[in-house]
Amino acid sequence: MSNSVILSPSLLSSDFGRLAEELAALEAAGLKWVHWDVMDGHFVPNITFGPPVIKSLRERSKLFFDVHLMIEKPERYLAEFVDAGADMLGVHAEASVHLERTVSEIKRLGAKACVTLNPHTPLSMVEYLLPDLDMVLIMSVNPGFGGQKFLDFTMDKIEQLAAMKAGVNPSMHIQVDGGVTPDNIAELTRRGADVFVSGSAFFNYPPYDQRLKTFMDAAQD
Ligand code: DX5
Ligand code: ZN
Repeated sequence: MSNSVILSPSLLSSDFGRLAEELAALEAAGLKWVHWDVMDGHFVPNITFGPPVIKSLRERSKLFFDVHLMIEKPERYLAEFVDAGADMLGVHAEASVHLERTVSEIKRLGAKACVTLNPHTPLSMVEYLLPDLDMVLIMSVNPGFGGQKFLDFTMDKIEQLAAMKAGVNPSMHIQVDGGVTPDNIAELTRRGADVFVSGSAFFNYPPYDQRLKTFMDAAQD
């Protein structure tokens, strides 16, 4: 199976009082990516953190900052998040009406561009943008909270997206977020996903180097 599997731990399940230490621990454990869940209390019924928090931690971490914007009209804040240090900026298709403009702007600002789809949102929402995207994030729970149950119907959606990208942008990442565990990562990999977000199933099981190995070994099954 592929060696290019990436685990992107979601800080939503980390200790917010110790974010700097958590980032250092992830790096020491061999993680390359970290997932930031930005929530505005409008697009999703929860509020987390914004550009100032990310910026202050950017100075302390070499990890690839994978920023998942769960905010209305994300186009208003793209420059702030890139300036704060986002390497990958993900916007929800449901939250941005002029999505092509938003994606172009992320790239113009120098970040990698991801479009995220809620579980029920059809793949056709991103079909014409696939050549321009670095990643599509398939939500496998309704966004807003960690620790929810994986929605099984999203397995087929991942497989369909993998088929769609093959002809137009084979190197595009397919990320899956929500309810990812060592028990379903092998199936997700077989269906075509290669970047896995994990919050509760990662942070609740230290030490992080061993938990990373558990996920990676399971992905090869
Ligand atoms: C949900 C977030 C996820 C969440 C995943 O709104 O986008 O990143 O933190 O948490 P788990 O892995 O616990 O489902
Ligand atoms: Zn997320």
